[in-house]
Amino acid sequence: MNIQTNISLKQYNTFGIDVSAKYLFAFSSSDDLQYLLSDQSFKNQEKLVLGGGSNILFTRNINALVLKNEIGGIELIEETENHFLVKAGAGVVWHDFVIYCIQKGYAGIENLALIPGNVGASPMQNIGAYGVEIKDVFHSLEAIHLSDNKKVTITKSECDFGYRESVFKHSYKNQFVITSVVFQLNKKPEFHFSYGSIKEELDRLQIHDLSINAIAQAVMNIRRSKLPDPKIIGNAGSFFKNPEIDSSFFNELKNSFPQIVGYANDSEMIKVAAGWLIENCGWKGYRAGDAGCHDKQALVLVNFGKASGNEIFDLSEKIIESVKNKFGIELQREVNIY
Ligand code: EPU
Repeated sequence: MNIQTNISLKQYNTFGIDVSAKYLFAFSSSDDLQYLLSDQSFKNQEKLVLGGGSNILFTRNINALVLKNEIGGIELIEETENHFLVKAGAGVVWHDFVIYCIQKGYAGIENLALIPGNVGASPMQNIGAYGVEIKDVFHSLEAIHLSDNKKVTITKSECDFGYRESVFKHSYKNQFVITSVVFQLNKKPEFHFSYGSIKEELDRLQIHDLSINAIAQAVMNIRRSKLPDPKIIGNAGSFFKNPEIDSSFFNELKNSFPQIVGYANDSEMIKVAAGWLIENCGWKGYRAGDAGCHDKQALVLVNFGKASGNEIFDLSEKIIESVKNKFGIELQREVNIY
């Protein structure tokens, strides 16, 4: 069993924050993980499960055993009249999985191309982009319960998915290691291209015959134009959630700020573009030391090199405060703070 000690986590988080972990154990099968968990010497050790490290901000050294999930493999487990049930290891890179599915003709996740992170983390915050969320294609997952080391299957209804939300951020928090996820993908694609710029990008690419490949291409172009590549500039995608507010409050704000961007959803609530709020408080392109607010998408905080997690966190506090003062809306962080 190869357990590393006092190891830097810089390469294990997309923000590129340089903190150290007391122990790190990388595992490539659920058997390896169960073997480690059966070792009594780690029984009472605090544990932190890490996937692609793309939705976490480290603000301190980690006095815990970091479990780095590297379980691979993609497998077609069942084919029905309308669907493919596809199982992927939690350590598979999400975008590689999307590309694999497109090549095989498995439809449903093409709008989710280029989202950083691994398959195992995708249900945690119900990843979403351009009108699609993972809950739309999620079937079930397998996980190991950290306290009793047993393998369990968790179904869709149990996951309690919401906007960037699931049971794994609440009552199941830090209790399970997700080892694989099963997706129910479609044989007949349902194209989602009404979201903002996708249509424009498809026109620009002169695509007239829609395909899952074309949608993914449009999504990749848009993402590359707005979102920083974590390999070049550290970031964790959207740092905040888009806040949902009452439609009457939204109308009041619209009187004072006619340009404000919001989308009605199924309820009486309006989802407000947090990027717009942040930009209109003057933060877009802001930089203090190596911590900053991305110049093409204000919802994304960035590490230009050597920022500490606390510097990024402090910047997020200032942004929350100024948005609250100007618009009376309290932004919630989407990224997990550790
Ligand atoms: N906007 C601004 N200024 C900005 C950024 C955005 O005015 O700096 C306004 C624009 O009007 C724009 C609107 O906000 O039209 C929406 O912006 P965008 O399409 O970039 O999407 P978003 O709402 O800011 C969400 C997700 C992204 C996802 C995109 C596309 C959240 C928290 N973020 O961002 O997800 O890629 O939609 O679907 O819901 C992520 O979760 O890490 C992530 C990147």
